[in-house]
Amino acid sequence: MSYPYQISSFEEYKEKYRQSISDPSAFWGDVAQHFSWRRKWDTVLEWNFTEPKIEWFKGGKLNITENCLDRHIATRGDQPALIWEPNAPDENSRTLSYKILLEKVCQFAQVLKNNGVKKGDRVCIYMGMIPELAIAVLACARIGAIHSVVFGGFSAQSIADRLSDAQAAFIVTCDGAFRGAKDIPLKSVIDDALIGNKTVKRVIVCTRTRTPVSMIKGRDVWWEEEMKHVEEQGITFIEAEEMDAEDPLFILYTSGSTGKPKGVVHTCGGYMIWANYTFVNVFQYRYGQVHFCTADIGWITGHTYIVYGPLSAGATSLMFEGVPTWPDAGRFWDIIDKYKVAIFYTAPTAIRSLMGFGQEPLQGKDLSSLKVLGTVGEPINEEAWHWYDENVGKKKCPIVDTWWQTETGGCLISNLAGITPAVPSWATLPMPGLQMVLVDENGKEIVAEGEETVSGNLCIKAPWPGILRTTYGDHERCRTNYFATYENMYFTGDGALRDKNGFYRITGRVDDVLNVSGHRIGTAEVENAINMHAGVVESAVVGYPHDIKGQGIYAYVIYNGVHHSDETLIRKDILQTVTRIIGAIAKPDKIQFVSGLPKTRSGKIMRRILRKIAEGEVSNLGDTSTLLDPGVVEEIRNGKL
Ligand code: PRX
Repeated sequence: MSYPYQISSFEEYKEKYRQSISDPSAFWGDVAQHFSWRRKWDTVLEWNFTEPKIEWFKGGKLNITENCLDRHIATRGDQPALIWEPNAPDENSRTLSYKILLEKVCQFAQVLKNNGVKKGDRVCIYMGMIPELAIAVLACARIGAIHSVVFGGFSAQSIADRLSDAQAAFIVTCDGAFRGAKDIPLKSVIDDALIGNKTVKRVIVCTRTRTPVSMIKGRDVWWEEEMKHVEEQGITFIEAEEMDAEDPLFILYTSGSTGKPKGVVHTCGGYMIWANYTFVNVFQYRYGQVHFCTADIGWITGHTYIVYGPLSAGATSLMFEGVPTWPDAGRFWDIIDKYKVAIFYTAPTAIRSLMGFGQEPLQGKDLSSLKVLGTVGEPINEEAWHWYDENVGKKKCPIVDTWWQTETGGCLISNLAGITPAVPSWATLPMPGLQMVLVDENGKEIVAEGEETVSGNLCIKAPWPGILRTTYGDHERCRTNYFATYENMYFTGDGALRDKNGFYRITGRVDDVLNVSGHRIGTAEVENAINMHAGVVESAVVGYPHDIKGQGIYAYVIYNGVHHSDETLIRKDILQTVTRIIGAIAKPDKIQFVSGLPKTRSGKIMRRILRKIAEGEVSNLGDTSTLLDPGVVEEIRNGKL
């Protein structure tokens, strides 16, 4: 048995693509009828990109959890929905069948209700990668609360900012999280985030690490005790809340080119269709296979390809708590063998880091269960692609290079495994429904002459079901960020090449957003954090090529504090400040102290020059004549680390 909308040949892809563009409403209406709706939609699509206002399946009523859980019970109730592999290989794993997962989700949904959570309330989830994280996410969706998952690596300050932006009154967290050799004290980070907070009414704490925590009377409750009350009442099922297709499902914060992360909003109907459709088609999932996506649920990849995509498709989704290199660099390969994983989906940065360990961690690993490999999050270099193909896929597994974003809900450009051609380091063809265009600086569409390969800024002319609807609490920001750069187009922020076959190769961000180990970080965000340090006068942050991380963070800092003689200490202090303000993922790899920054006469920092110096291209800095003080460039160049 397969999915009626699963594409099975290159010819069929071309035909479906053509249909999806000529009549999107007919095409997506056809796909959507294979899902569970309480009420059918009135119109498939209404939209304009000027406001923007995008409505898919308007008038349709549903609950995504009925699609992810209830509808599978009759046919696959005892099949594993989630398999959980703990951080330490000697700890017991856990398997939750669809029946059990539905029961737990309903019980925790009741816990949320008992604690005052209502439809439309925002619930911040700050947990490690344990099954309870997926349960919390789905329980919110069950009662129509909007989840906002915050990655466990973010600082108290980042959480506080997100809580206030989303006006969240509820938090679900853990005492701590295990990640490799580390034990991260999540609850105490939450406590710091809540100092002075007046809006959070309840914190539900799940036990994982048994790290000592302080439970505040009247505010903090234990997950286990709350669940026990519900179990004692014999509750095993609750009705799902009926949601409008366009009701928000979740908020997920992501970095942009300005300092403040924005809360990308996805809605119930369109996102569900997109998560499912792309999961089924890109990975060519077959019932019974084990799908292993190594992302954290704190990022969009985990939302879509650990939780909503696989579960809505009745798949078995494997969730891993730990890291690829602990206790050794064979951890992923052991997991693949242990569960006979068929689909393995990870980031190029993980592949490059594992490549560095050579052949030894692969010795004795079978890996013959693998059918499809995938990558996501950043461009994959050819060397890493071939290593993955030869050593992991044994040259028999198609590799899907999936290009997408938090804002897009699911994959937009990717080959379909074994169905459409794969080209190393090319994401290749758009999914059905996607009208990609390359434009020049002025928004003029770039059209190839003959067989040439063209390059430009990547835009999209019309909506697909998984497109973001707004940025939480600030629709104008959504408009200016994505829909105002070029008229009537969604601007991705990425540059790309397109060859004569219509294949796309993503070249990277063209705005001030960095991609460090597949994590998106705004340069302005890092600068703001560095500038918080008492001794820092000003800073400028740029990216530079990094062998493992893809991009590293290079910070130029004007320092005027005391103790300036000990640069090592100051560097450490600055790193500490960034960790406190954002989290360890945003720590600069290099800090260069400078006495000035190259600025134009109007006071704008010329990042182009700083980027070139950071990249080591010091000999050809281009035109520096418009600079206020060209001498500064000389100093910076000579002092390059
Ligand atoms: O620059 C692109 C890069 O990651 C950005 C989106 O980051 P985020 O919203 O965190 O989502 C990451 C997971 C979907 C994009 O603008 N990116 C993502 N996938 C690829 C990629 N760059 C090249 N190739 C990819 N496959």
